[in-house]
Amino acid sequence: MSRFLFVTDLDNTFVGDDDALRELSQLLSKHRQEHGTKIVYATGRSPVLYEELKQERNLMEPDALVLSVGTEIYLDKRDTPDTDWSKKLSEGWNREVVLSKTAEFSELKPQPDTEQGQFKVSFFVEQSVAAGILPQLESSLSESGLDVKLIYSSGIDLDIVPSSSDKGQAMQFLREKWNFVSERTVACGDSGNDIALFAVGEERGILVGNARPELIQWHNENPVNHRYLAKNVCAGGIIEGLKYFGFL
Ligand code: GLC
Ligand code: MG
Repeated sequence: MSRFLFVTDLDNTFVGDDDALRELSQLLSKHRQEHGTKIVYATGRSPVLYEELKQERNLMEPDALVLSVGTEIYLDKRDTPDTDWSKKLSEGWNREVVLSKTAEFSELKPQPDTEQGQFKVSFFVEQSVAAGILPQLESSLSESGLDVKLIYSSGIDLDIVPSSSDKGQAMQFLREKWNFVSERTVACGDSGNDIALFAVGEERGILVGNARPELIQWHNENPVNHRYLAKNVCAGGIIEGLKYFGFL
């Protein structure tokens, strides 16, 4: 057994089945102690909502945190995001222009203030109108010279972020920083904003058994051997996948 880099989404992936979460946390904690495995949470949540979930579920302390869909990386339990990462994201990004362009679309309902970030503008968009307006919104943003990306998750959440940013690119930033090869890196997820974790390179991927249709569809359209769709849900599916790849 040797160390690996473990990257996981939280809602409905790591969190969702309390018994399995307890078992997985024990396995990971032991692996970290014995082999130096690193644990990273990669979530769409802001610092405020992450803290809420951490308290609620008594989550184990990670080695790094990727918050706000990859737009903020926190290392060594610091309260401020990594500045190397923020610098990289500021190219081609202009929050004011994103706000003025998105204001032209009445179907976009702003998410609460806590969920808006320096490099993340988020809305709720009903699934029934999303397919119709997202392509228009995308071209309107790129016509104004912005280098941004639209991430749609769970049939409701729309995040607009710099195109150099997502959970996958944040994972690679940490992988390179800590010297893990992609074969010793594994990412776990259940919804649209996790596609970036699976699409970025050759890292091992675990889709939990309760993965959302948008992720399953993408998985079926982009088949590879280094991605595994688990039968079990949430943390139970992660344990199943870690065994499948021989990490545990
Ligand atoms: C979390 C965040 C929200 C985001 C969603 C999808 O729910 O709170 O802002 O849109 O994840 O990334
Ligand atoms: Mg999730």
